[in-house]
Amino acid sequence: MRKVLPALPALSGLPRLGEGPIPAPGPCDVHVWRYDHTADIDDARLVALAAMLSPDEIARSTALRDARRRQFVVGRALCRHVLSRYAQVPPQDWRFALGDRGKPSIAAPALASPLWFSLSHADGVSVCAVTGAGPEIGIDIESVVAGRDALDVAVQFFPEAEAHALRELPPMQREERFVQLWALKESYVKARQISLADGLGGTTFDLARPDDIGVIFADALGEHAQEWRFSLFRLDEALIFALALRTDATAPLRLRSGTCPLS
Ligand SMILES: CC(C)(COP(=O)(O)OP(=O)(O)OC[C@H]1O[C@@H](n2cnc3c(N)ncnc32)[C@H](O)[C@@H]1OP(=O)(O)O)[C@@H](O)C(=O)NCCC(=O)NCCS
Repeated sequence: MRKVLPALPALSGLPRLGEGPIPAPGPCDVHVWRYDHTADIDDARLVALAAMLSPDEIARSTALRDARRRQFVVGRALCRHVLSRYAQVPPQDWRFALGDRGKPSIAAPALASPLWFSLSHADGVSVCAVTGAGPEIGIDIESVVAGRDALDVAVQFFPEAEAHALRELPPMQREERFVQLWALKESYVKARQISLADGLGGTTFDLARPDDIGVIFADALGEHAQEWRFSLFRLDEALIFALALRTDATAPLRLRSGTCPLS
């Protein structure tokens, strides 16, 4: 008999983050903030949002084309508004540094309780996740695309155990599971700022229980699985959200979600 995938929990089903200031997150906390681009972003609004970016961000945005430029400006505006919920810093005053592979982090101002974040975009949605656990947080959102042959890609890039588990599924569920695995791998890549070539290809995720995702890291990564937490949620009908976090905490993660108006 064909296997059936367990349903992913909805991100919107997490306890909600309210309006107004929010206490700094601790080592078990991850707050996931969503913004839908399509709602109210015309050209004038985009110019207004771009005005809160730093000179280097403005330079980057002007080099980008249309949809990507919009995504970049909205994403950075989202980060700025979200971070300002945790500290008395106006959105335009945040300064970001870029890691070697392009991951942004807070460069200034200095905070009494450090904050780390990760950003991801897809199909008119940007999501920013904030934690107090440490810099190794990565999120990814990915679309489930009907009709793609996920197995071809999986055979090339995934360990045999994952490719085998995909083969066992009917086509639509196979695509869904493929996207879940892909998003998890990308979230880890973004947390660590590494690439597939750094050993990710040999890392295997066990998704038998969506609320308790298992991982066997490739030896080359030198990881201790107990330091990592992985989560998967459904953002929308066809959008998957993945989180990777390294934390010293032993207590369960406290995940919260919210929407952040950019005003
Ligand atoms: C860098 C990378 C992770 C970005 O992922 P993506 O799906 O294209 O884009 P997302 O929308 O999820 O994330 C983009 C945001 O992440 C941040 N970011 C950029 N580079 C990053 C990096 N190396 N690490 C972490 N975050 C990064 C930025 O905030 C960026 O948004 P911005 O430029 O608008 O500020 C991706 O391009 C990449 O190189 N992946 C490696 C491929 C791979 O090994 N995949 C594993 C599957 S087997």
